[in-house]
Amino acid sequence: MKEATMKGFAGKVAVVTGASGDIGLAIARELAAGGAAVWCVDVRPPAQGIEGEEGLRYAELDITDSAAVTAFFERVRAEGGPATLVVNAAGGPGSVRTPVDEVTDEAWHRVLTLNLTGTFHCCREAVRHLKAAGLPGSIVNISSGAGRTYSRTGVQAYAAAKAGVIGLTRQLARELGPHGIRVNCVAPGLIVSDGTREEIGRLGDENLATHLSGVSMGRLGEAEDMVAPVVFFLDDAAGYVTGQTISADGGSIMLG
Ligand SMILES: NC(=O)c1ccc[n+]([C@@H]2O[C@H](COP(=O)([O-])OP(=O)(O)OC[C@H]3O[C@@H](n4cnc5c(N)ncnc54)[C@H](O)[C@@H]3O)[C@@H](O)[C@H]2O)c1
Repeated sequence: MKEATMKGFAGKVAVVTGASGDIGLAIARELAAGGAAVWCVDVRPPAQGIEGEEGLRYAELDITDSAAVTAFFERVRAEGGPATLVVNAAGGPGSVRTPVDEVTDEAWHRVLTLNLTGTFHCCREAVRHLKAAGLPGSIVNISSGAGRTYSRTGVQAYAAAKAGVIGLTRQLARELGPHGIRVNCVAPGLIVSDGTREEIGRLGDENLATHLSGVSMGRLGEAEDMVAPVVFFLDDAAGYVTGQTISADGGSIMLG
């Protein structure tokens, strides 16, 4: 009988940041279902509670704190081996719809630091351990449609940071290919989550209909919709795919 193409994650160690959020948690649960031991990392515990769920373990970590990220990846190595699967899903836009001439330095840096520098911290530490152990690995960064075109809610720093995540992904893929480490990116469209529920509620019927008219699949995304694109990149079966960004947005942005 032919072996299945997708290899699954049995015996692998994974780190998912932002795992108390809807998208991160959906990804973490899928990896655990595929056999991985998953570190669920966030600044707040998961609202739904993951105690007792096989394969999932919560660790508090602020990805903007470089020293804490270094210590965390060392802990992962010491307690079960280096993470060969890493998903950088922690992020968010901060306050929306501020005209650029009213954006403070603090607001700009906060969003850049969370979405771009935090992702860099985690990539760097994951790579340090993979290289030291001589292991191949797969990293998936979560960008946004805002990073491919523009932020729907007009957050300049978010659009810049998420475009930066795509650039970082390409650059790391190029550098790390010879080490067997693949780095790819998923760019969600508007997805119903803790981070967006309020904003979606504020849209109103007319604005929602306008938004959906630009979505080929004609509906908002769910966190579960983000799982398959991430899993595809992570799986060893995608061993010849690196440096790529997939939009998971119901067919909103279509790039050649
Ligand atoms: N939901 C959407 O419409 C959408 C669209 C495009 C991109 N994204 C991106 O997808 C990712 C997941 O978003 P989501 O919709 O699940 O949002 P969410 O708000 O539900 O989850 C984000 C998680 O990141 C965590 N977090 C924030 N700061 C952190 C820090 N310093 N260290 C560690 N964790 C931190 C939050 O506590 C939260 O649990 C984010 O990177 C977001 O920018 C979301």
